[in-house]
Amino acid sequence: MGWPKLKSGWLKFGGEYNFCAMPILDAHTFEFFSKSPEQTRRIGMRLGGALQPGDVICLQGELGAGKTTFVQGLAQGWGSLDSVSSPTFILVNQYRRADGETLFHLDTYRLESQPEAEELDLDAMLDEGTLIVEWPERLGNLIPRERLWIKLDHLADEHRQMNFNASGKRYDDLLDEIRNAMFGGG
Ligand SMILES: Nc1ncnc2c1ncn2[C@@H]1O[C@H](COP(=O)(O)OP(=O)(O)OP(=O)(O)O)[C@@H](O)[C@H]1O
Ligand SMILES: [Mg+2]
Repeated sequence: MGWPKLKSGWLKFGGEYNFCAMPILDAHTFEFFSKSPEQTRRIGMRLGGALQPGDVICLQGELGAGKTTFVQGLAQGWGSLDSVSSPTFILVNQYRRADGETLFHLDTYRLESQPEAEELDLDAMLDEGTLIVEWPERLGNLIPRERLWIKLDHLADEHRQMNFNASGKRYDDLLDEIRNAMFGGG
């Protein structure tokens, strides 16, 4: 009972040391403190390199929390031929890769209604590629139950807290992969 046990330590990541606390009683979560936009991009790259078609990644966080910054690294690690921009008037951007795979980048901030949300047809995107969603909470239960959910919180200046939460076996595995890459298998 009480607080979960924490496995914590200094983690060298992107040339800087970070103090990381990782609850070992919960295999579905991972917490990371980013100290710069570059670091956020770098952790995005790690995740991007591990993604497969059909994967769903949700990015929750207030305006300026760093969601798009994270997607920039993610798309780069995934191997995008296109650069990332915030989807503004159109809600979805598509990035291509040399092998023909597609990454969909959805930003629902300007979504106005539930019917408009349903028209997005996430299933069709997932049949074709990988999906990254900014403001996923606006899509409610249209978001697949199995997904990786990342919450970004502004702490101060360039400090952001990132909470990774996996639902489903695929995302537990994905989280393990990232955790092992960052903690050197520890
Ligand atoms: N550690 C950090 N991680 C990410 N971004 C950071 C960090 N420190 C500072 N920033 C800055 O915060 C801003 C984040 O903007 P970004 O567009 O990524 O946010 P967002 O969450 O996508 O916002 P929006 O909801 O408006 O799309 C950028 O200007 C970035 O340089
Ligand atoms: Mg954004």
